[in-house]
Amino acid sequence: MASSPISNLFLLLLSLLPFLPIFSASNVTLGSSLSANGNNSPWISPSVDFAFGFYQLNNTNTFLLAIWYANIPDKTIVWHANTTNPVQAGSNVELTASGLTLNDPNGQTIWTSQPNGTVSYGTMLDTGNFVLSDTKSNFVWESFSYPTDTILPTQILPLGGILYSKFSETNYSKGRFELHFTNGGNLELNPVAWPSELLYAPYYSSGTANSNSSESGFQLVFSQSADIYIVKGNGGVVQLSSWQNIVQISNSYYRATLDFDGVFREYTYAKTSVSGQNWSIVRRIPDNICMELMNPEVGSGACGFNSYCIANGGTPSCRCPPEYSFMDPNNNFGGCKPNFPQGCGVDDGTKKPEEVYDLKKIQGVNWPHGDYESLGPYNQTQCEQACLNDCLCDVAIFNGTTCWKKKLPLFDGRMEFGLAIIKVRKDGVLPSGSSRIPISNSKKGKQILLWSFGFVNVLLLVVISLILFSIRRKRSRKAEHDSSVPETNLHLFTFEELKEATEGFKDELGRGSFGIVYKGVLKFGSKKRVAVKKLDKSTQEGDKEFKAEVSAIGKTHHKNLVQLFGYCQEGPQRLLVYEFMSNGSLANFLFGLPRPDWYQRTQMALGIARGLVYLHEDCNAPIIHCDIKPENILIDENFTARISDFGLAKSLLLNQTRTHTGIRGTRGYVAPEWFKNVRVTVKVDVYSFGVMLLEIICCRNRVWQRSLGKKKRQYSQIGLTTAI
Ligand SMILES: *[C@@H]1O[C@H](CO)[C@@H](O)[C@H](O)[C@H]1NC(C)=O
Ligand SMILES: *[C@@H]1O[C@H](CO)[C@@H](O)[C@H](O)[C@H]1NC(C)=O
Ligand SMILES: *[C@@H]1O[C@H](CO)[C@@H](O)[C@H](O)[C@H]1NC(C)=O
Ligand SMILES: *[C@@H]1O[C@H](CO)[C@@H](O)[C@H](O)[C@H]1NC(C)=O
Ligand SMILES: *[C@@H]1O[C@H](CO)[C@@H](O)[C@H](O)[C@H]1NC(C)=O
Ligand SMILES: *[C@@H]1O[C@H](CO)[C@@H](O)[C@H](O)[C@H]1NC(C)=O
Ligand SMILES: *[C@@H]1O[C@H](CO)[C@@H](O)[C@H](O)[C@H]1NC(C)=O
Ligand SMILES: *[C@@H]1O[C@H](CO)[C@@H](O)[C@H](O)[C@H]1NC(C)=O
Ligand SMILES: *[C@@H]1O[C@H](CO)[C@@H](O)[C@H](O)[C@H]1NC(C)=O
Repeated sequence: MASSPISNLFLLLLSLLPFLPIFSASNVTLGSSLSANGNNSPWISPSVDFAFGFYQLNNTNTFLLAIWYANIPDKTIVWHANTTNPVQAGSNVELTASGLTLNDPNGQTIWTSQPNGTVSYGTMLDTGNFVLSDTKSNFVWESFSYPTDTILPTQILPLGGILYSKFSETNYSKGRFELHFTNGGNLELNPVAWPSELLYAPYYSSGTANSNSSESGFQLVFSQSADIYIVKGNGGVVQLSSWQNIVQISNSYYRATLDFDGVFREYTYAKTSVSGQNWSIVRRIPDNICMELMNPEVGSGACGFNSYCIANGGTPSCRCPPEYSFMDPNNNFGGCKPNFPQGCGVDDGTKKPEEVYDLKKIQGVNWPHGDYESLGPYNQTQCEQACLNDCLCDVAIFNGTTCWKKKLPLFDGRMEFGLAIIKVRKDGVLPSGSSRIPISNSKKGKQILLWSFGFVNVLLLVVISLILFSIRRKRSRKAEHDSSVPETNLHLFTFEELKEATEGFKDELGRGSFGIVYKGVLKFGSKKRVAVKKLDKSTQEGDKEFKAEVSAIGKTHHKNLVQLFGYCQEGPQRLLVYEFMSNGSLANFLFGLPRPDWYQRTQMALGIARGLVYLHEDCNAPIIHCDIKPENILIDENFTARISDFGLAKSLLLNQTRTHTGIRGTRGYVAPEWFKNVRVTVKVDVYSFGVMLLEIICCRNRVWQRSLGKKKRQYSQIGLTTAI
C-alpha cells in the first residue's frame, strides 16, 4: 500500500531499474485477490503509472478500493469504488468470472462491479483505466465508465455522466458538488442539497444543450493531448467557455477533478521531476466560485451558512464573522454559528440595546441574498441604529445609501462592495461546552446574559446556593441546615493574580463604603468573570479577624446572596473576590427604563426577603446586614435578586449594644434604634427592607425622603409613616 515498506522497496527498485521486464504488469487472472491489510502489493499498470488495490487512508486502519498514481510521492487517487464508507482492514477483493467482489472482514459483500459479460481477465491499463475483459478481449467493465471525481486523458464522459466531489480534502465520502454531463448534452456544475441527492441550480453551464441532436453536446472528451472539450452530435468541437487554451507539456501527468470546494480543475504534474513538486493547476471552472450566484433561494453557497467566502487564486476559503465560530472545527466549509445567544425573546428590554450589543464591522463583505428589509436613503449611523434596535436584525449591510437588514442564517457570503455590520453581544464568547441556556430558577426562565454594570455600589459578599429555600422554613430545618453546611471552600488568591485578573485594577465597577470594586476575569481554569473588592485601609483589621470574618461569610450559601469565591490577604492588602452579577443592581433595575413589571418586582421582593431570613435566622451566628438598600441588591443573569455587601458589619455580632459603634447604613434606610440608646438587632434590616419595599412598589427612589422635602434630614419612623 501507499506507505508500506514493500511498495516503497518496489518503487525504489523501479527508479533504479526502470525497464526491468519483471516489473511490467501482467494480466490479473481469475481467482486473484487482494486484501486490505496495509502491505498487499496492488495491481500495477505496465508503465507503473497507476495502481489498483486497497489504498490506506492517512494512517487510519481504513481503506478505499481505489486506483491511484503509483509513481509519485503524492499518491493521488483518481478513482475509488463507491462504497458508502471506507472499508476496514481485513476486507478483500476478488476477481471472478462475474467480476470484482469486495467483501468486508466478515465476508459480507460491500460492492461489486457489474460487467456486461463473462470476465476472463482484468488489466490495469497505463491510462489509469482498470478493465475487465472477456475471452475475446472485449471490455465488459471499465473503471472509466464509473468515474468518481476525476477524469483522465483518453476518458470520455457520455451523456448522463456524473462526477461527485469528495466531502473534504481528506474525506472521500460524497460531497457538496456534482458535475453533470446531462442527457440534454449540457455540462453543468451543481451544488448538492447535502446530504440529500437533490441538486440546486447550476453555477456553471456550458450552454451546449440543443433540441437538434446533431447540434447538441454528445460527449465530454479529455483528449490524449490533455485538452478537455465537448463533442457535438455532428462531431463538432465546443471549447468550454472561459477555459483558455493550453499547451501540453510532454512527459507530464494530467487529470481533471471536481474538487471538494466545487471547482473543476485540470492539473498537471511533471513525471520526471524532483521531489517536492505538487500538482499545478492548468485551468479551472469557475474562475471564482465565491462570486458565482449559487442559488438565490436556497442553499448556503460556496461556503456554509453564516460564513463568507474569499477566493485566493480561485481557491475558496471560508471565514466566520467576528464572534462566530465554525460549527465543525475540522471543516471550514461546514458553516459558522454565533458564540452568543441572539434573536427576539433573549432580552426582556430591561437594558438598552447599546448596552447589550456591539457592532463589529467588516469592510467589503456581503451576503447578497435574503434581506428582509431594505432601508434608505440612510447614513451609517442610521443603519447601525436600525439594526441595533431591531431584535430580528443580526447583520446589516450598508452601501453608502442603502441599509439591508438580515437575519440568520446568512448564505452565499462573499467579498464585495459595502460594509457588513455584525451585531454581537458584549458578553461575547460563551465558555465552550456550556449550555447556551443557563439553568434558570426564575419562573420566567429568562436566559439573560447581559452584563454591563451601571454604577453599582458594590461591597459584595458571597454565597453559593442553587437550592430553593422555602420562605417559611422551620427551626428544625434550620438546625439541619446548619449542621450540613460544608466547610468553606474559599480560594486564597495572591495579589499578583488579582492584579492580573483585573488588568491592574483598571475597570471600576463601583465604590462602596468599604472600598472600590473592580471587574476582573480569572486567568486560570474557568475564566470566570468576577468582581474584586479592594478594601479601604481604614476598614482593615488584623489577620485573624479578617480570616474569621471571611470564613463566616464564606459559609453562607443561599441563592439570594452573592457568592464569595475567595480572598487575598497579603501585607496590607485585603481583597475579596465575588461572583460577577451581570444585571447590575436593583437600583438600576427599579429606577431605569423601562420600568420592570409588577411580577418581576414581587419576585425581587420575595427573593430579598428569603435572603434576609437566611442571614438572620439560618446562619451559625446571625448576620446583620446594616445597609439594606437597592444599591446593595444585585441581579444575576436569571433575574434573581441577590443581597451583597453583608457580613462586614461584624462588630455588631460581638457587641450587640451599639455603644462603641458608629451608625452604619445609608441615610433614608437607617432604623430609628440607631439614634436611641437601645440594642440594635436584626430588626434594623427589616426596617430598611420596609423602606426598600416601598421603593419597589412605587418604582421610585427615596420615596419617603422626597415626600418630606429636601432639607429635612431626619431618620425617624415618621418619615416612613408620612410616605405611606
Ligand atoms: C492478457 O491476456 C490476453 C488474453 O489472454 C492476452 O492477449 C494478453 O497478451 C495478456 N497480456 C499480458 C500482459 O499478459
Ligand atoms: C493525517 O492524520 C493525522 C492525524 O490523524 C493528521 O494530523 C494529519 O493532518 C492528516 N493528514 C492529512 C493529509 O490529512
Ligand atoms: C455506485 O454506483 C453504481 C453504479 O453507478 C450505482 O448503481 C450505485 O447506486 C452507487 N452506489 C453508491 C453507494 O453510490
Ligand atoms: C459493456 O461494458 C463495456 C465497458 O463499460 C462497454 O465498453 C461496452 O460497450 C458494453 N457492452 C455492451 C453490449 O453494453
Ligand atoms: C466523511 O464525512 C461524512 C459526512 O460528514 C461523515 O459521515 C464521515 O464519517 C466522514 N468520514 C471520515 C472518514 O471522516
Ligand atoms: C440540425 O442541425 C444540422 C446542422 O448541424 C442541420 O443540417 C439539420 O437540418 C438540423 N436538423 C433539424 C431537425 O433542424
Ligand atoms: C507542495 O505542497 C506542499 C504542501 O501543500 C508545500 O509545503 C510545498 O512547498 C509545495 N511544493 C511546491 C514545489 O510548490
Ligand atoms: C445621520 O442622519 C441622522 C438623521 O438624518 C443625523 O442626525 C446624523 O447626524 C447623521 N449622521 C452622520 C454621521 O451623518
Ligand atoms: C446602494 O444600493 C442602492 C440600491 O441597490 C443603489 O441605488 C445605490 O446607488 C447604492 N449606493 C452606492 C453608494 O453604491
